[in-house]
Amino acid sequence: MFRTHFTVVLWFLCTFFPVRAKALEDREWWRHAVFYELCPRSFQDTKGTGVGDLNGITARLDYLRGLGVDALWLTPCFPSPQVDFGYDVADYRAIDPRFGTLQDFDRLVAEARRRGIRVVLDLVVNHTSDQHPWFLASRSSRRSPRRDWYVWRDGRGPGRPPCNWLSLFGGSAWTLDPVTGQYYYHYFYPQQPDLNWRNPAVRREMLDVTRWWYQRGVAGFRLDAVDTVFEDPALPDNPLLPGKNAFGDPNMVNRHNYKLQEVHGLLRDLRRAADPYGAVLLGETYTDSIPELQAYYGNGRNELQLPTGHMLAMAETLSAPEFRKRIDALEAMDAWPVWVFGNHDLARAVTRFGDGVHDDAIAKDLAALLLTLRGTPILYYGEELGMASHEPGRREDVVDPMARLGWPSAKRRDGARTPMQWDAGPAAGFTTGTPWLPVPLDAATRNVAVETGDPGSVLNFYRGLTALRRGSRALLEGDYQDLAPADPSLLCYLRRSQDEAVLVAVNLSPEPRKLDLGPALDGWPAARAKLLLGSGASGPEGGLPGELEPYGVVIVALAQEQHPVPAAAAGPAGS
Ligand code: GLC
Repeated sequence: MFRTHFTVVLWFLCTFFPVRAKALEDREWWRHAVFYELCPRSFQDTKGTGVGDLNGITARLDYLRGLGVDALWLTPCFPSPQVDFGYDVADYRAIDPRFGTLQDFDRLVAEARRRGIRVVLDLVVNHTSDQHPWFLASRSSRRSPRRDWYVWRDGRGPGRPPCNWLSLFGGSAWTLDPVTGQYYYHYFYPQQPDLNWRNPAVRREMLDVTRWWYQRGVAGFRLDAVDTVFEDPALPDNPLLPGKNAFGDPNMVNRHNYKLQEVHGLLRDLRRAADPYGAVLLGETYTDSIPELQAYYGNGRNELQLPTGHMLAMAETLSAPEFRKRIDALEAMDAWPVWVFGNHDLARAVTRFGDGVHDDAIAKDLAALLLTLRGTPILYYGEELGMASHEPGRREDVVDPMARLGWPSAKRRDGARTPMQWDAGPAAGFTTGTPWLPVPLDAATRNVAVETGDPGSVLNFYRGLTALRRGSRALLEGDYQDLAPADPSLLCYLRRSQDEAVLVAVNLSPEPRKLDLGPALDGWPAARAKLLLGSGASGPEGGLPGELEPYGVVIVALAQEQHPVPAAAAGPAGS
C-alpha cells in the first residue's frame, strides 16, 4: 500500500512538476522578456511618406532579434486623426492606413513570432477620438443610445462648466457641445472625450476589443492613462493651489478625477479577459508610492502583471544614493519589479541623466541597471544607441499641440519621438521622404550601422547585456542583494541563483573609483571571479577590477571559495 502510494507520488512529482514548471514559465513569459517600446511613426518608413509604418517594423525584426528583444510594445497604430499621435482612437479594431493594413499587422505578428518576439499593443482606455463613431453618435442627440458612453453634464449656468476640473493639456476639462447644449468631459484634449466606464456596455465592448486582438495573436496590452479612467460622478470641485501652470490655469489637486479606486475593478476585468490567452498587461501607472504601485498588481495578483511605476525614470538626478533608494523600494515590494528609463512622454534618459561629457558611459550605466536588476526591463527605441532628445527651438516647429499651447514652459515631447537612426544616409535611413520630425544632426555618427562596427558602442553594450541576461539564471531569476559599498557614488549588487552569482558594479560619478567591497565579498575569492562584461572599450578580460572608470560598469561572475573535502567524507576509493 505504502509502496503504491510512494510510486504514485514519485510519478506525480517527476512527471507533473517539470511540465507545470514549464507551463508556468510559458504563462509568465513576461518575467524574463526584454520589452521594447517603439512609435510606429518614428521607426521605419517603407513608403516614402515620412511617417513610419508596420512593414517598416517587420523589415527591422532581425535587428530587434539581434538586440535581444523578446516583446514589442507599439504605441497606438489604430485609425486616428492623430491629434495626440494615435492616442485619439477612431476605431479599435483596425489599423490606420498611414501605418498599413490589418494584413500587414498579421504579417508583422507572424514574422515576429518566427523570431520569438511577441507584439503588445497600446490600449487607450480612458477616451476615444471625437471622430470615433461612438462619440459622433453620442453627441448627435441627448437620446442617442450612445449618449451614456461618454460623460455628459449640464453646465452650472451660462458659460459655466459643470465643475472646475482642468485638462492635463490646458484649459477646462469640459467642452460645451452646442448641438445638445451639454458639456462633455475630457481629461486630455477636447478631441479626446472620456469614455464612461460606469456604463456596462462600454466595459463589455472594450473587453471584446481586447479579445479580438488576442485572437489575432496580440500578446498583451499596455493600458494607457489608467489613472484617469474614473471620476467622481458628483463632480465636486478640485481644491486649488497657489500659482498657475504652464497653460495659465490655476494649479489644482486632481482629487476627484485622478487615481480613483474603481480602476482596480476594471483592471481585474481586463485581466480576466487576458488570462485565457496568456496575455500580459502593462500599465501606465506613474507613482512614487510603493503601496500604490503594489495595489496595481492586485491583491490576488489579478490586475496588472507589469505596472510601470517609472520609479527610476523619475529620479531627479543621476545619483547613486537616490537610485539606491528607489531600487530598494522596488525590491522591498512584494511583487515583480518593472524597470523603465524612457518613453514617448519623457525627455530621453541620456538628456535627463547625461552630463554632456560622459553621455555614452552614462547610457551604458542605465543600460546595465535596466538589464541586470531583478525584474522586467522596458527599453525605449533608440535608447540602445544613446539617442538624446532633440527639442525644436522655435514654437512654430513644434508638432505636439500641448507643447505649442503651453510654449515655452509646457512639457515637450517631440524631442523624444524623432526618427530612429539607422545609418548615415539621408534621413538616417528612416525614410526616403521628408521625416515627420527632423532627424537629429548626430544621426551621422550615432546610428545602428556605425555603432555596430564599434565594439565600444552603446549599441554593442546593450547587445552584450541582453545576451548575458538571456543565458544567466542569476540575472533572470536570482535574488538581489545590495552590497552597500562604502563609496556613496557606487551601486554594487549581487544577483544570485542556486548555482550562479553575478556581481554588478556601477560607478555613477565622473571620477575613477576604487572598487573595495570589503567583507561583503568574504567567501567569494577575487581569484575565482570572471569579468563577463565591462563598459570600457576593450572586451572582457580578467576578474574583478580594483577600480571603476568614470561612470564605468563591470559585470562579474563570482564563484564561492572551495573548501577541500575531508578525506573521511570523500568515501572509500573506487565506490
Ligand atoms: C498617455 C500617453 C500620452 C498621451 C496621453 C493621452 O499618457 O502616454 O502620450 O498623450 O496618454 O492619451
